[in-house]
Amino acid sequence: DAGKGEYDHYMLKEINNQPTSLANTIEGRIKDGDVAFESLPPGSFDDIDTVQFVACGTSYHAAMYGAQLVREAGLRTEVLRASEYESTSGPVDENTLVIAVTQSGETADTLDAVRKATECGARSLAVTNVVGSTAAREADDAIYIRAGPEVGVAATKTYSSQAVTLALLTQRIAADVPEGTPADDRGEMLEALEDLPKHVETVLETSRAEALARDVFGSKSYFFIGHGLGHSVALEGALKFKEITYEHAEGFAAGELKHGPLALVTEETPVFAVSTGSDSDSKTKTNAIEAQSRGAPIVAVGPDDQSLVDVADDHLSVPDTHPVWAGLLANVQLQLLSYYAARQLDRPIDKPRNLAKSVTVE
Ligand code: G6P
Repeated sequence: DAGKGEYDHYMLKEINNQPTSLANTIEGRIKDGDVAFESLPPGSFDDIDTVQFVACGTSYHAAMYGAQLVREAGLRTEVLRASEYESTSGPVDENTLVIAVTQSGETADTLDAVRKATECGARSLAVTNVVGSTAAREADDAIYIRAGPEVGVAATKTYSSQAVTLALLTQRIAADVPEGTPADDRGEMLEALEDLPKHVETVLETSRAEALARDVFGSKSYFFIGHGLGHSVALEGALKFKEITYEHAEGFAAGELKHGPLALVTEETPVFAVSTGSDSDSKTKTNAIEAQSRGAPIVAVGPDDQSLVDVADDHLSVPDTHPVWAGLLANVQLQLLSYYAARQLDRPIDKPRNLAKSVTVE
């Protein structure tokens, strides 16, 4: 199963593999309505009071996702770009857990940040796809995202598996840490997670991303906005788009549009607005309307019943689910959008110019 099979590109194969990769990520990790990691039994985190995430690229966006959930669970947390670790990290001591989020487990900046944290006494945990990788070997503990090998340089299935692994890990940590409060609706959230592979399948079967990529083709710039968990998805959507299309794309916190980027908005800058079905979607809607009134076409990316859909010019729909997972479904739509846009431009999708799957230099 190592080849491209029926697909023209590894990236498309890997996007389509997500129902299976996510099922593997989840398997055995929900037991009796609770989260279980074999290597991290209850009590593993009872001396932790701060969680730091360090990562690069797509893994950084998954780390943002994880950090928001850790924050919501009542813990102090930071999410740091590994290459900026020294200049952005808060105080670190033996009660700090540093989580390296790295698909390959070999990214030099991430390894270096973890080494710096552990020199200050932090305990380290690698969240990686590669068994036996440097991150897994060097960290005090490792958990695997189990996405299977990813060949396309642009990360797709590993992002969704990272985000799910971090969401589960958060519940595990929150149960141990004295200040932690596992989500009130944890049961509902975990139940919805078991349906996530099926929902991804629905997105893959029904997506209009290919047609939409044709419609928006030829624009000057492509903007992606979102709030809360939707913010990290917007950043990831823009990163994927620029990596493989070579077109200019940027992701913004929806509320930041009005603090600068709005000056760039015209009818030639489609705005993809990510919604997750949470209360904060109303903010994203307000910000999307601000862009729309300057002529930008708005594409809502998220569940059908959002009021954003009523004002948007187009919609990439995802099945209704718990707000914690909706962003991951929106992200599958954005992966497809990038893929089909790059295809129209005849880009070398699996090996974009100047980029490497794993960057082992600082
Ligand atoms: C490279 C890849 C990105 C990846 C980043 C971090 O830049 O091109 O797709 O997100 O490295 O890689 P890691 O293996 O640490 O997740």
